[in-house]
Amino acid sequence: MLRRGLQPEQWTEDVWREDVALMRRAGVNLVSVGVFAWSRLEPEEGRYTFGWLDRVLDLLEAGGVKVALATPTASPPPWFSLAHPEALPVRADGTRLLHGSRDTYCASAPAYREAARRIARELARRYADHPALALWHVHNEYGTTCHCDHAAAAFRGWLRERYRTLDALNDAWTTAFWSQHYADWAYVFPPRATQYLPNPGQVLDFKRFWSDELLAAYTEQRDILRTATPDVPITTNYVFGGWVPVDHARWSREVDVVAVDHYPSDSGPGAEEETAFAADLARCWSGGRPWLLMESAPNLIYEGGRMHAKEPGRMARHSLSHVARGSRGAMFFQWRAPRGGAERFHSALVPHAGPDSRVYRETVELGAALGRLSEVDAGAVEASVAVAWDAASWWALSGPGLPWDGIDYLAEVRTAHRALWRVGVTADFVSLDRGGPLPYQLLVLPAHYLMSDAAAAAVRTYVDGGGRLVATYLSGVADEYGRVRLGGYPGALREVLGVRVEEFRPTPSGWAEDVRLAGAVQVRPGVTRHRFGAGTAWYLSTPLDGGAYGELLAEAAGIPVREGAAELELVRRRARHAGWLFAFNHGAEARAVPAQGTDLVTGKPVDGAVEVPAGGWAVIRETN
Ligand code: GAL
Ligand code: ZN
Repeated sequence: MLRRGLQPEQWTEDVWREDVALMRRAGVNLVSVGVFAWSRLEPEEGRYTFGWLDRVLDLLEAGGVKVALATPTASPPPWFSLAHPEALPVRADGTRLLHGSRDTYCASAPAYREAARRIARELARRYADHPALALWHVHNEYGTTCHCDHAAAAFRGWLRERYRTLDALNDAWTTAFWSQHYADWAYVFPPRATQYLPNPGQVLDFKRFWSDELLAAYTEQRDILRTATPDVPITTNYVFGGWVPVDHARWSREVDVVAVDHYPSDSGPGAEEETAFAADLARCWSGGRPWLLMESAPNLIYEGGRMHAKEPGRMARHSLSHVARGSRGAMFFQWRAPRGGAERFHSALVPHAGPDSRVYRETVELGAALGRLSEVDAGAVEASVAVAWDAASWWALSGPGLPWDGIDYLAEVRTAHRALWRVGVTADFVSLDRGGPLPYQLLVLPAHYLMSDAAAAAVRTYVDGGGRLVATYLSGVADEYGRVRLGGYPGALREVLGVRVEEFRPTPSGWAEDVRLAGAVQVRPGVTRHRFGAGTAWYLSTPLDGGAYGELLAEAAGIPVREGAAELELVRRRARHAGWLFAFNHGAEARAVPAQGTDLVTGKPVDGAVEVPAGGWAVIRETN
C-alpha cells in the first residue's frame, strides 16, 4: 500500500542498500523509480546506460519492494535541448525558455515526441520481464504549455476536426467582433500576447486542445508500453492547479488507474479540507473505483513563503483520509532528502537527519497501520451529495472580459465542498458531460458557467424526476463555446430554477444579482426555491456567509448537520457484506465515536464507541 519517490540516480550503491532495508522496516511495497532520470539513462543520443537501474530494480525485488517504473520524459537531457532548440517551449509572449530546470520541452514538437517514444520503447524492452515491475508511470505531472509554431499547426488540426468548417469556427468564436474573422485555417494561431483582451473562445479552445495534445503524448507512450507488457497497468500522475491545461475527467478514460499528486497549500485546518477535496475529486475522475495517491508530502507544507512542519500524526491523518476516500495506498515525494538540487529542502520520509528522526518513525508506524487496512479496498465510498466539477467552466471563468475580477471558479467549488465537509456530509464530484444517472439526494452546481444543451437536459431530468438541486450564481450562463445564452441569466437553468436575472450587480465585496421570480419563491435574501416537476431547485444569487451555506445545503439534501464535523471527520466505505468507518480527530481533545465492530489496527472489538485520541484516527470494520 505504500510509498515512493526513490531517486537512486542521486545516490551510491551503499545508500540503495540501506534504503531497501529502511523500506522493509517501514512496510514499503511500491516505489516510483526513474521519474527524472533521462540524462542518466541516455546520456547521449542513442547511448543507453541501464546498468545502474538494473541493479536498483534487482535490489528492490530482492527486498520485496515492487516498482512503479517511470518513463523519464518530463525532463529531456541537455543533449536533446541542444540538438533540438525548436523543441524548447515558447511562452505566449514569444519568449523561448531554455534548458536548466525540468519540464522544459514542447509537447507538440515532433523531435520531442519521437525522443520520448524512443526512450519509452527502450525501457519497455529492457524491463518488460523484470519481476519488480508492477506499474508503469508515464512521464510526470503533464501540465506545461507551449505557444510555438508546432503548437499552432497542431491546434489548427484539432480545430479542423472539431469544427469541420471555418464558418463553424468563426461562429463559435464570434470572430465578427474586432475584425477577427478567419478566411483561411492558416490564419489561426494559439492565443499569443496581444494588444488588449484576446478572444475568449480561442483561449478556451486552446486549453481544450492542449489537454488533448498532452493526452496524445501520453497515449502514444502508453501504447508502446502496452504492447511490450500487456498485463502491467499503466498510469500517469495528475497534477492539479490553475496553470494545468488538463481535463482530468476526460483523461481518466485512458489510464488503468487514476493517480494523483496532492500537496495542500494551507497549514491550518484548510489542509484537511483540501485533502478531502482532492481525494473526492480523484474518486470522481476514477468513476468511483479505487485510485492511487501517487505523491504527497511527508512533512512540510509551504505557505506564505515558508515551510510549516506537519504536527505529529498529521501525515498519517492526511494519508488515511485519502484511503478513506478511495485511494489504494499512500505514496510520497520523496523517499530520501537529497544533498543538492532545487528540492533539497523538500520533505522526505528519510530526512536529512536520517532514519533516527520523527518523520521516519512515523513512516514506520504508518506502514504498519496501512498493512492492516487492505480489506477496505473492497468498499465503495458512501456519498449522498454530489458537487458538479467542470474543467471547461474553470477555464472559461479564468478567461478575459468577465463581469468581475474576483470570479474564481476553483474557490466556488471548494467553498461548496468545504461547506458540506464542515457539516459532516461526504460528497462525490460529478461531471455532467459524462452523462449517466445522478443517484444523489442533492446535486450542487457551483458556478457551472458553461453548460451544453445535453448537460442542461440532464439537470432538468434529474430535478423533474424528484432530485434536489442547488445552483449558484454564474451557472448555466454560457453554452459550451462560451457564448452567452440570451433571454436572461442563468441561461440554461432559468426554467428549472424559476428565476430570470436581468442584471449582474457585482459589488466591491462580492457578487450580487437583480433576480426576478418566475415561479420560484424567495426563502431569504439571495436564495430562491422552485418546485419543478417532482423535485426542488434552489438558486443562490449571492454567496452565503460562514455556516449558512452548509446549513442550506444540508437542509436541501435533507441531511442533519453533524455538530463538530470539522474536528471529527467521519467517512464510510461499504461493500456488500461489510462496512468500514474512518474517524479522524483533527481536534485537540480525545473524542468518543459511536461504533460497533472491530478496530482494524488494534484488532480489538469495539462495542458502542471507540476513543480516538487528539490528532489520532481509527478504522472500524462495522458489524451493522
Ligand atoms: C511534484 C513533482 C515532484 C516534486 C513535488 C514537490 O509536483 O512531481 O517531483 O517536485 O511536486 O512538491
Ligand atoms: Zn511548442
